[in-house]
Amino acid sequence: MGTSLLITAVVVLVVSTGVNGCPPADREALLAFKAALHESYLGIFSNWTGTDCCQYWYGVICDPETKRVADISLRGEFDGPFIQKAGLTRYMNGSISPAICKLERLSSIVISDWKGISGIIPKCIASLPFLRILDLIGNQISGEIPYDIGKLSRLTVLNVADNRITGRIPRSIVNLSSLMHLDLRNNSISGTIPQDFGKLRMLSRALLSGNRISGPIPYTISYIYRLSDIDLSMNRISGPIPESIGKMAVLATLNLDGNMISGKLPATLMNSSISILNLSRNAIEGNIPDVFGPRSYFMIMDLSYNNLKGPIPKSIASASYIGHLDLSHNHLCGSIPVGSWFEHLEASSFVNNDCLCGKPLKTC
Ligand SMILES: *[C@@H]1O[C@H](CO)[C@@H](O)[C@H](O)[C@H]1NC(C)=O
Ligand SMILES: *[C@@H]1O[C@H](CO)[C@@H](O)[C@H](O)[C@H]1NC(C)=O
Ligand SMILES: *[C@@H]1O[C@H](CO)[C@@H](O)[C@H](O)[C@H]1NC(C)=O
Ligand SMILES: *[C@@H]1O[C@H](CO)[C@@H](O)[C@H](O)[C@H]1NC(C)=O
Ligand SMILES: *[C@@H]1O[C@H](CO)[C@@H](O)[C@H](O)[C@H]1NC(C)=O
Ligand SMILES: *[C@@H]1O[C@H](CO)[C@@H](O)[C@H](O)[C@H]1NC(C)=O
Repeated sequence: MGTSLLITAVVVLVVSTGVNGCPPADREALLAFKAALHESYLGIFSNWTGTDCCQYWYGVICDPETKRVADISLRGEFDGPFIQKAGLTRYMNGSISPAICKLERLSSIVISDWKGISGIIPKCIASLPFLRILDLIGNQISGEIPYDIGKLSRLTVLNVADNRITGRIPRSIVNLSSLMHLDLRNNSISGTIPQDFGKLRMLSRALLSGNRISGPIPYTISYIYRLSDIDLSMNRISGPIPESIGKMAVLATLNLDGNMISGKLPATLMNSSISILNLSRNAIEGNIPDVFGPRSYFMIMDLSYNNLKGPIPKSIASASYIGHLDLSHNHLCGSIPVGSWFEHLEASSFVNNDCLCGKPLKTC
């Protein structure tokens, strides 16, 4: 009798908190999260009062059925209710409290472009089993990416660009079997890219530029069928460009500029699906492969500041389009081919080579 009364009481309690909104434990966790942050210009936390964190709490979204907190979305850049308040400073400091990990049903954490949030990524984030989006771009976050981030089997977006992250790319990252968008740009990440990077079969964008990443480009990267955008620029990458990269089905952008890449230009790159190719400022040597054809369509082809020698291949005139061509600062020699899309090119595309001649340079 006593037990069933108790059960009834518990059921009533659970149902009533369900009706009234978020569970008290989620509310407590949110308040602890808020306490570690300071935002005094927009007042984004001014609505974080009262018992129902699922209504009116700016940037908090609950699952309509479970009433558990599902999304935290605090964007410093584009934001709905604050658009009218343009002119106000979008700045927040403080840190991301580990209390956030008590929101165990979180599927999305977006705390982006606040410029001043520091501290580390709480290690416990790797234990949020439902997490799909982690976006912390544009803060001052330091420390390392949690080594066991690979446990987040549902994670589709990992964006910590424009912060002060150090340490290596965790080896476990290759276990993020749902990952589609990886953005680590503009941090201080060192070490090598995991050799088995190609295990990230769902990946479509791999953006790692502006770090201190060294070692070779893992050839397994070309196994990633959906990969359309590879940006490894401004790092310390060495070794050759794997030939298989030019055979990737949907690769549209390949930016490897500002590294220490050596070896020859793979012929496969010249007639690939790539339309933005920047290999500037490396140590690439040998001739430019004479394999251009109708499949060669480049919005940008920047091969400047390398050690390329020999002539500009005749077949380049048969490319369907090259919008911006830069072959300057190499050791090329011979006459510049003529072709329809060549008409708009200026001398700056060809200067500082050994002995190039012909329009737009001096006649041969
Ligand atoms: C804050 O809550 C009030 C109602 O309590 C609502 O009118 C207002 O739009 C909310 N502000 C934000 C930024 O969500
Ligand atoms: C946080 O920013 C405020 C200005 O919004 C400033 O007064 C305060 O000193 C900052 N706190 C820290 C720890 O940087
Ligand atoms: C890199 O991030 C810092 C903030 O941590 C920012 O000030 C800087 O403009 C960023 N650089 C680039 C090239 O995005
Ligand atoms: C990736 O996951 C597998 C299976 O769960 C595990 O055995 C392995 O240790 C993980 N790899 C890394 C580098 O964490
Ligand atoms: C290619 O990369 C170099 C070096 O990072 C940069 O200066 C140049 O502007 C880039 N080229 C194009 C066309 O964007
Ligand atoms: C692209 O160039 C490679 C290397 O010469 C050649 O084997 C291949 O047949 C070419 N592919 C196309 C589609 O032109």
